[in-house]
Amino acid sequence: MSAAPAAAARSPATAPPAARLVGIRKTYYKPDGSVLVDALKGLDLVIPRGEYIAIMGASGSGKSTLMNILGCLDRPTEGVYELDGAAVEKLDDDELSRVRGEKIGFVFQAFNLISELTIAENVEIPLLYQGIPAAERRERAAESLKIVGLDNRMTHRPRELSGGQQQRAAIARALVGKPAILMADEPTGNLDSSTGKSILETFETLHAAGLTLIMVTHDDRIADRCERVVRLSDGMLESDRDGGGRARRRADAGGNG
Ligand SMILES: Nc1ncnc2c1ncn2[C@@H]1O[C@H](COP(=O)(O)OP(=O)(O)O)[C@@H](O)[C@H]1O
Ligand SMILES: [Mg+2]
Repeated sequence: MSAAPAAAARSPATAPPAARLVGIRKTYYKPDGSVLVDALKGLDLVIPRGEYIAIMGASGSGKSTLMNILGCLDRPTEGVYELDGAAVEKLDDDELSRVRGEKIGFVFQAFNLISELTIAENVEIPLLYQGIPAAERRERAAESLKIVGLDNRMTHRPRELSGGQQQRAAIARALVGKPAILMADEPTGNLDSSTGKSILETFETLHAAGLTLIMVTHDDRIADRCERVVRLSDGMLESDRDGGGRARRRADAGGNG
């Protein structure tokens, strides 16, 4: 019954988990109201704060549907979702989008930067939606770009950057709202392997700083580095196991005393 001190410090018993899903179902309907697809069929999942988790599974298994629910972009048809201790189904649409803006940062496979804007302007966008004044927006965008090592590319346009740099800018944009959870859907999918590796190192640095990371991926390298791998199959949880990063962290903790 004795938890290692490091583990106890990471998940204090009093703090709610980052995300808690109970009996989550998502049904897509046809226009006539008949069932089109049961995309999630009663999913239970608790994601502790500070965890680095990979969500894997075949195409069509429900990964994006789950991600959209976790990210408050969509609501479940049935079940309970608590984000940071707050029941999401009780929020109206405005509250939901406010919570999304405050708590969650998104990174997409295709970066989704706006080509007409500079990198700094792209990174400022989430703050614009939050009504933050221009001077503070600029300052925070610069801070965020510094974290990902792009503070020397602020006035560039997306097309003037490499794929890896564009993904770093997208990570900076996801971080600028100081989210508790960073979610990524195939973040290394459009990158060559060495660039992908450096992006993963950036994610690891953020995780070490306390961020909860939830990644949808086909990339086994992410599974090797994260702490936990959840695999979906046909809208259900097929397996839930440790990732390679958990063992590495244990070894590090042991080595330090
Ligand atoms: N908006 C939608 N309308 C109808 N069916 C959908 C919609 N989005 C996803 N689906 C279906 O739900 C299932 C799960 O899809 P998805 O969550 O995108 O899987 P994955 O991301 O694992 O590939 C698939 O059968 C897909 O065709
Ligand atoms: Mg998908």
